[in-house]
Amino acid sequence: MEFKVENGDGIDSWKEVTLVYSAALRQMETKMQILNDEFQHVHQYNPIEHIKARIKTPESIVKKLKRYGQESTIDNMVKYINDIAGIRIICSFTSDIYRIADMIRDQKDIQVIAVKDYITYPKASGYKSYHMIVSIPVYLSDRTVDTKVEIQIRTVAMDFWASLEHKIHYKFEGDAPESIKNELVECARMVSDLDARMLSLNEEILAISQKREE
Ligand code: GTP
Ligand code: MG
Repeated sequence: MEFKVENGDGIDSWKEVTLVYSAALRQMETKMQILNDEFQHVHQYNPIEHIKARIKTPESIVKKLKRYGQESTIDNMVKYINDIAGIRIICSFTSDIYRIADMIRDQKDIQVIAVKDYITYPKASGYKSYHMIVSIPVYLSDRTVDTKVEIQIRTVAMDFWASLEHKIHYKFEGDAPESIKNELVECARMVSDLDARMLSLNEEILAISQKREE
């Protein structure tokens, strides 16, 4: 894959893109692991079930730039593509999502560029997730590159729904039959219901064990 290079500063080759964005991703992953470890230490509880990280393929970067009506240049991808580096944080409970988002916001070297709360405001598809675009500094030998990372935070149940919906969306090239779309919206409603019930069940259990300790 060849990208046209426009200038010499910042990031100027695909190799450098991979280097810088994977460094940013690794930093984010480590930050999340540290938060999880500390949470386990203080509260005897892991808010994070698991973490997935990925670098967008050059093919899908080119596709997205085309969709945005932009030429495939390194400058344009750095400027317009916010999800070259993507990290997905899967939690047990909805309450963990906001807790983690706040902890990310509180880190001094992380700058929050944008937030989309598809949990309070789900998409028409039924999609629920908490999205953040953040920027973190990557320290190279001769300069610091502020690098964007897309963070998606969701529950295990929301993740299950999103991966199936994504497969269906892909299979029908975004044009799934109405009956299937409606069924997915109904499933999303059940996911929300399940998340709410699991959360209150967990709170009940916590209350019981606290009482026993007293
Ligand atoms: P793109 O959708 O990536 O072009 O970016 P955007 O600027 O519209 O941002 P948005 O926050 O809406 O979506 C970012 C990412 O969230 C997507 O790339 C998907 O990974 C995920 N996402 C958004 N909407 C849906 C949805 O309806 N279903 C599923 N399965 N995933 C979604
Ligand atoms: Mg979108």
